[in-house]
Amino acid sequence: MVCLITGSSRGLGKAVALAFGKKGHRVVIHYKERKEEAEEVVLQIRESMALKADVGNFNEVKTLVDEVAAKWGGIDVLVNNAGITKEALLLKTSERDFDEVMETNLKGAFNFIRAVLPSMLTPHFEKKGEVLKGRITGHIINISSIAGLKGKSGLSAYSASKAALIGLTMCAARELSVHNIMVNAVLPGYMMTDMGTASTGAAKEKALQESVVKNYSDPNNVAEFICYLSGTSGTTGQVFNLDSRML
Ligand SMILES: NC(=O)c1ccc[n+]([C@@H]2O[C@H](COP(=O)([O-])OP(=O)(O)OC[C@H]3O[C@@H](n4cnc5c(N)ncnc54)[C@H](OP(=O)(O)O)[C@@H]3O)[C@@H](O)[C@H]2O)c1
Repeated sequence: MVCLITGSSRGLGKAVALAFGKKGHRVVIHYKERKEEAEEVVLQIRESMALKADVGNFNEVKTLVDEVAAKWGGIDVLVNNAGITKEALLLKTSERDFDEVMETNLKGAFNFIRAVLPSMLTPHFEKKGEVLKGRITGHIINISSIAGLKGKSGLSAYSASKAALIGLTMCAARELSVHNIMVNAVLPGYMMTDMGTASTGAAKEKALQESVVKNYSDPNNVAEFICYLSGTSGTTGQVFNLDSRML
């Protein structure tokens, strides 16, 4: 399988890329700024390449996807993982910060889905003349957050973007089921990645208090779940909440 993981230079995306790589799949490491980190991930996977694109820019995203399709023929799994936060109370959140979070977390996933679809479908149409009934042609997994279900104080743009990503997941699942493409959302718990460690001490403490298992989420466990999901057939339009914050 050819697996494209957005934002896989570090954090959860890197863990997902390594998990797919361990299973022998071809993996596209995507990044925006951290070229060196992305190239280090490539070195750990047998068949892999690092490509740069700003997820908010459709032309850059399409160029990247075309390059992968030209080299490896098509894309089987897309994980929309790239994301950012801008912590501030709603009243102090600037329009610019709100737009940047939406462009990355929501429009980024929209851009990648639109760009990837032809390369997910074409190899199947070309080889078989039609999509075979019951045969899974692709998986799209969108990384959302419990903030999108419950809202988190100080994260208005982030919470809104992650809620909208769930809506996008549902819509895409309905529209793409006819092509046997499965679309699901995965909600990791609080992870001590760059994003998680950048939060305030109080936010990290609160995340632990709210978790009934009193632990942070392990990116490697989330990555294993994503790999498993990408091997299933017949499950689509679902929201898998791996976050044990129940308060
Ligand atoms: N950390 C948590 O506690 C937590 C909890 C729930 C959900 N999530 C979600 O899980 C996902 C991964 O989070 P993480 O903690 O692993 O984040 P992270 O460590 O901060 O990594 C973010 C990744 O996204 C990429 N990225 C950011 N903006 C981009 C843009 N405009 N275009 C292309 N790539 C961009 C970064 O690329 P560069 O390295 O090149 O900058 C990096 O690879 C996010 O969607 C996040 O919302 C995280």
